[in-house]
Amino acid sequence: MDILKGLPETTILWDPSDLEPYLRDESHLRGVLPLAVVKPRGPAALRELVRRAKLEGFGLVPRGAGTGKAGGCLPTERTVVVDLSVWPGEPRVSPQDLSLWAPASAPLREVKALAAAQGFFYPPDPNSWESCALGGTLATNAGGPNACKYGMTRHWVLSVDALLEDGDIHTFGISSVKANAGPAMGQLFIGSEGIFGLILGATLRLTPAPREYTTLLLPVKHWEDLLDLPGRLCAEGYLPSAFEFFDPAVLAELRAHGPEEARRLPGEALAILEFDERGCTSEVFLEGLLDLLGPVAEGLQVASDERQRQGIWAVRRMTSVFLKEHHPRKVSEDIVVPRSRLREFFAGVESRRIPAVTYGHLGDGNLHVNLLAAGETDPAQLEVQLLGLFKLALELGGTLSGEHGIGLAKRDAFLALGDPAHIQALRAIKRALDPQNIFNPGKVI
Ligand code: MLT
Ligand code: ZN
Repeated sequence: MDILKGLPETTILWDPSDLEPYLRDESHLRGVLPLAVVKPRGPAALRELVRRAKLEGFGLVPRGAGTGKAGGCLPTERTVVVDLSVWPGEPRVSPQDLSLWAPASAPLREVKALAAAQGFFYPPDPNSWESCALGGTLATNAGGPNACKYGMTRHWVLSVDALLEDGDIHTFGISSVKANAGPAMGQLFIGSEGIFGLILGATLRLTPAPREYTTLLLPVKHWEDLLDLPGRLCAEGYLPSAFEFFDPAVLAELRAHGPEEARRLPGEALAILEFDERGCTSEVFLEGLLDLLGPVAEGLQVASDERQRQGIWAVRRMTSVFLKEHHPRKVSEDIVVPRSRLREFFAGVESRRIPAVTYGHLGDGNLHVNLLAAGETDPAQLEVQLLGLFKLALELGGTLSGEHGIGLAKRDAFLALGDPAHIQALRAIKRALDPQNIFNPGKVI
């Protein structure tokens, strides 16, 4: 391929059979065949790639491990995929700074393990944490169950190394939580899905690792009783590090077809709660908690050791994969409503006749609303159902995406329903930072 000929420090793939895996991520979408896939191994490769992208008019689509849920890494027309899996750099911890630097290519699993090995905790824990790359989590501002207490990826980023349209790598931010010399430019890249430049590394914030956990399986008699609980717990001073749930339909699916452990799950609906603050295993703490949970519970179980704790989490972690296996053409959304409005949300889903089953991060209002029959639904009707869902979330003060991002999957809805001033501002920033639109064209905005 002439336009990429002689690119330094790069592996180039252009055989269609090598490009095929790059047409998919974990969304329901499929990309178009890219011009090529490049795997850069140093700054000279990127400098030259940017120069040629501007000269020849092709786009650069960043890709980590391909575990995204919104199609953000899928190639669009006339693009080259920049696979960052071999981007170099050795992750390192600075205990004094409570920070960790890692390249975009580092597996999130290794980043978390490196922090843990030194007694620290890096909280972001998307469901794909064992297979995703750090770069993807930064580009999509990934969440996960722990966001309930610890927030999103962006809350754990001190500085960002990003490739800009001048072809150079720039660092925005410093290794300290206090950095106030103007607006936080680095944060602009977190969750940007690569439209302003490519994230190549970051300095992450760490916190001392929790030393104790209380993990509970909470089956409820009446499933609506779950909906007030996240707000009630917070109001009473209990902030779970995770509060996950399965509605009756998802629980029934798990029970009927899931693995052995799932078949024995009790209750009409079920929640998993975890606390990790110091003292959370004390009797006083548990008694106070059980006073709140007892009245709605039907056979509460408290994990008594790490094996039981992991057993509880295993069922939650496999839910998305399991549902996908059984309903390969399902569509899974990740809307958010404030936790104080959960009840109104579910009433709205019912009154608008949205055929949804739901599980996910109840504790922070980030719900995985699944349309299991999406593949068999007339596309126009499916669109009406999805727009109805998004509008409902927006009307309740929520948003279209809590953790998966906009990418390609939600772009049309974002442009149709988003605040025009917000979209205009994003487009103005895009024009300023990427006037030739080489970075991930056709995504988000
Ligand atoms: C999860 O929390 O399981 C994933 O983010 C959800 C999904 O697959 O939609
Ligand atoms: Zn999730």
